[in-house]
Amino acid sequence: MRSRTSADVLVIGGGIIGLVTAWRAAQRGLRTALADPEPGGGAAQVAAGMLAAVTELHYGEETLLGLNLASARRYPEFVAELQEASGQDTGYRSCGTLAVALDTDDRAHLRELHALQRRSGLESEWLTGRECRRLEPMLAPGVRGGLRVDGDHQIDPRRLAKALVVACERAGVTFHRSWAQRLSVVRDRVTGAVLREGGPAGAEGSGADHEVAAGRVVLAAGSLSGRLDGVPEEVVPPVRPVKGQVLRLTVPRPYAPFLSRTVRAVVRGSQVYLVPRENGELVVGATTEELGWDTTVTAGGVYELLRDAHELVPGITELPLTETRAGLRPGSPDNAPLLGPTELPGLLLATGHYRNGVLLTPVTGDVMAQALVTGELPEEARAFTPRRFSPVRQELSV
Ligand code: GLY
Repeated sequence: MRSRTSADVLVIGGGIIGLVTAWRAAQRGLRTALADPEPGGGAAQVAAGMLAAVTELHYGEETLLGLNLASARRYPEFVAELQEASGQDTGYRSCGTLAVALDTDDRAHLRELHALQRRSGLESEWLTGRECRRLEPMLAPGVRGGLRVDGDHQIDPRRLAKALVVACERAGVTFHRSWAQRLSVVRDRVTGAVLREGGPAGAEGSGADHEVAAGRVVLAAGSLSGRLDGVPEEVVPPVRPVKGQVLRLTVPRPYAPFLSRTVRAVVRGSQVYLVPRENGELVVGATTEELGWDTTVTAGGVYELLRDAHELVPGITELPLTETRAGLRPGSPDNAPLLGPTELPGLLLATGHYRNGVLLTPVTGDVMAQALVTGELPEEARAFTPRRFSPVRQELSV
């Protein structure tokens, strides 16, 4: 038997992007429901939480840079409001980042990044190896130089997710701890979704269906966003899973502070970063692997991360290794998110954040709430419309 409830907005996916969308929508007076078997789970449970708009700048991503910076600027106020609304600490630290080079090639790469940052009007300062070590004494003697970026901060994504769950509950969001089975579409318009209590159809313990009637559905299911049944082919979000393995070490109290800011580098072509938390956790990430839905932690992944991190900060081998985990980033064709209304009336997307989900959380909440209330994306987010991938739009632009 199928039970029914209704809402103005149903958000499918309870990771940080779905949660912030639901929270902001509820704050705007919309009756908001959210479907996820484990709200607060997903990629945020793995992510390191770097807010690295400047140090993760890439050629050709200048439009995305604008959105990343807009979100970074909002972070202090966003965190203050969220902590007030939830009574939870989020582990936000305005500690800055140091990107370092280990050899001549790395240094040339970092010099290029510095030049790109300056052309983009961003603040970063070039340091010699000695200056880097003065700032972070645990760095390897071989460090050849670095970029100090005082504006790239960090947050603890697990705490952020927890705070968002509480803020949603307090704002009156209805949680359905269920899987979304199928989008309901009647006469080319979204009318809600069917949820399955207990698990996907056919799974052990899967239970009854529940239908949520809602005129607007936001698909915010991270890397799973392309897998909901009932979504017409032309509007299926082009997201794919991109695996990242991440390690957690613990700095015992007498050794703290081990590092005072995020330290990162490109070693043999791979990114490695060390994110120190105030509670002694040291997060080391991350691999980037195109392996579909695989979330196995591999010996090779752990080895490479430890090897590269050890080259930067040799002392890490003394620390207890407390956790190894793999998550899936929602990759999109242009590495930028898909935000706002689709060509299917009533269906909106908030997905495809790839490497920037944590950074883009504040701005995503704001622009999605605006899109839900007015039907339009604000100017700052128009370039990220899902319609840029619509087959009709692409044919016209050929
Ligand atoms: N933004 C860091 C990562 O995706 O690994």
